[in-house]
Amino acid sequence: MEYINNELCMGPFKKKLLPLCANYMRPIYVYDLDFLAQRYEKMSQALKDVQIYYAMKANSNPEILQKLKKLGAGADVVSLGEIKRALECGFMPEDIVYSGVGKTRYEITEALRLGIFQINVESLPELQRIAHIARDMKKRASVALRLNPDIDIKTHPYIATGLKDNKFGMELSLVPALTACLKEHQDCLELTGVSLHLGSQMLEFAGYQEALLRLKKVYLSLKADFPSLRRFDFGGGLGIFYDRHELDLEEELLADYAKITLTTLSDLDCELQSEPGRWLVAHCGVLLTQVQYLKETSAKKFLIIDTGMNHLIRPSLYEAQHLIYPLVKKHGGLVCDVVGPICESSDFFAKNCSMTMVEEGDFLAVVDSGAYGYSMASTYNLQELPLEVCI
Ligand SMILES: Cc1ncc(COP(=O)(O)O)c(C=O)c1O
Repeated sequence: MEYINNELCMGPFKKKLLPLCANYMRPIYVYDLDFLAQRYEKMSQALKDVQIYYAMKANSNPEILQKLKKLGAGADVVSLGEIKRALECGFMPEDIVYSGVGKTRYEITEALRLGIFQINVESLPELQRIAHIARDMKKRASVALRLNPDIDIKTHPYIATGLKDNKFGMELSLVPALTACLKEHQDCLELTGVSLHLGSQMLEFAGYQEALLRLKKVYLSLKADFPSLRRFDFGGGLGIFYDRHELDLEEELLADYAKITLTTLSDLDCELQSEPGRWLVAHCGVLLTQVQYLKETSAKKFLIIDTGMNHLIRPSLYEAQHLIYPLVKKHGGLVCDVVGPICESSDFFAKNCSMTMVEEGDFLAVVDSGAYGYSMASTYNLQELPLEVCI
């Protein structure tokens, strides 16, 4: 973000935001598709020869999906709703990997009917369920085992998924039982991959590397039993810096992540798959909002805006920080809590935030909100959903 002539501009292409508020009705998520393309190219160059399956839970805006499809991405989905959205946006069934701990019978039946490329299995009962449904449908399901190596990647507990007390994936000690199940149902199950996803907003990689090593061992031992095994899905989770805009540093982070991944797995001679979400889309989106009131109590000042946890829940849910900038820079400063209209005291964006002076009617940008923003938005308090605009 950068001010040019006191007007806030977004991203490396310095796109102006204020004109988008000309006929302002309600909060707007703005997505920069050129920035998205740049992020995708950087990641696919770093992860050479890796097939990227975009984790569409991060942002399932149709134009974003169409853009990523054109750029060569597949889709990582976690529900039938996401499968349908991906297909509507041009992805083919063979472009889709399907994860998630709670796949229903109906969802599995639909995934098999549609010919979804790979189902990432999260439990033994799910594997058995897939086998029975596939047998009834006279199909052979292509499955990858999502394994949980019990590794701490030092992220917020609500977005950690690779610890043994998380509901995700299967413990490594379950591999013999999984092997037996796969053998028993080999007419309707084809083991094609192993998969891993340790959590989100990962900014250091010691635990991740250890997880890769553990999974690699499992891969090699399974390969002896199942020659059909040929894919290693190392998940998503690469983080971004929400507290500063240092894209160069993020590229270094990406380079480290890619190096660790590719060198650790280089001798496996298999197809590599990745499921990034946040790293691709977070910076490409901002949430535009309008100041309603500056309210002063004996304790503090509140800047009340027309968007809140209903549109961007990350601050309330994960205590996440998003930088907030006025679209037009003014003189003077202000220290306040930035809060929304929702009837919950957890409805805040920032506490004791120092910002440049703003007043009623001014527009603000809540930045880096392209990931887990609109896709987690709700109509709580019967507030309307925000608009979405791609530029
Ligand atoms: C299975 C799976 N893959 C990929 C992702 C994407 O993670 P991120 O957006 O952190 O890259 C998630 C997100 O939680 C996930 O659950």
